Amino acid sequence: TDDSADAKKETLTMATNATFPPYEYYEGQDIVGIDAEIGQALADKLGMDFKIEDMEFDSIIPAVTSGKASMGMAGMTVTPDRLKSVDFSDTYATGVQAIIVKEGSDIKSVDDLFAEGANHKIGVQTGTTGDLYTTDDIEGAGLGTVERFQKGADAVLALTQGKIDCVVIDNNPAKSFVAANEGLKILDTEYAVEDYAICLPKNSPLTEKINTALAELTADGTIQKIIDKYISA
Ligand code: ARG
Repeated sequence: TDDSADAKKETLTMATNATFPPYEYYEGQDIVGIDAEIGQALADKLGMDFKIEDMEFDSIIPAVTSGKASMGMAGMTVTPDRLKSVDFSDTYATGVQAIIVKEGSDIKSVDDLFAEGANHKIGVQTGTTGDLYTTDDIEGAGLGTVERFQKGADAVLALTQGKIDCVVIDNNPAKSFVAANEGLKILDTEYAVEDYAICLPKNSPLTEKINTALAELTADGTIQKIIDKYISA
């Protein structure tokens, strides 16, 4: 029948962690955001069906390496360590690790976290670069402790409750969380600048297809349009 071509369509399954506005988050029952829309646009370009699988952030790479998902897209930073288990597509966005504090906090800049005798409790989302960096640089140096949460929003809640002193998290989610809570601010200082990309199984034939599709969606303005929809300049 005429449906036979459709029935054979492969599915592009995107593993994500939908706790990360404006990249992926729930609006009612739906997962929306920059990554959700770029993922859909990539599937359309590749003539594939599209499906999002929501999971804990630190389950995304295992889902990709085991073949449970075709790719991982979650505002995910390219790191040397992750490159040992997955490949990454070309970069489609830039992120900054930002620091959220309560108004009036004694932490005024990233340097205060590294000051001699500092002993701050730092909240992060488990397995994120915020976790990896602060665990190495601060906890590892005996300059504070890292409290890990499954969701960035839970770290922010602990901050509002005075259980921790700051949260290290990507700047755009930081803006959403600060907008949703009174008495918080983002420090005008950057912990780290990083590249976001899509992770794929090592040596997957899909990587080149994704990169070609990404380049086309960049060239025709689709990617910028999606980003502008969620992030005001
Ligand atoms: N960019 C950071 C990382 O790669 C945080 C990403 C968190 N993403 C999410 N969807 N929760 O580790």
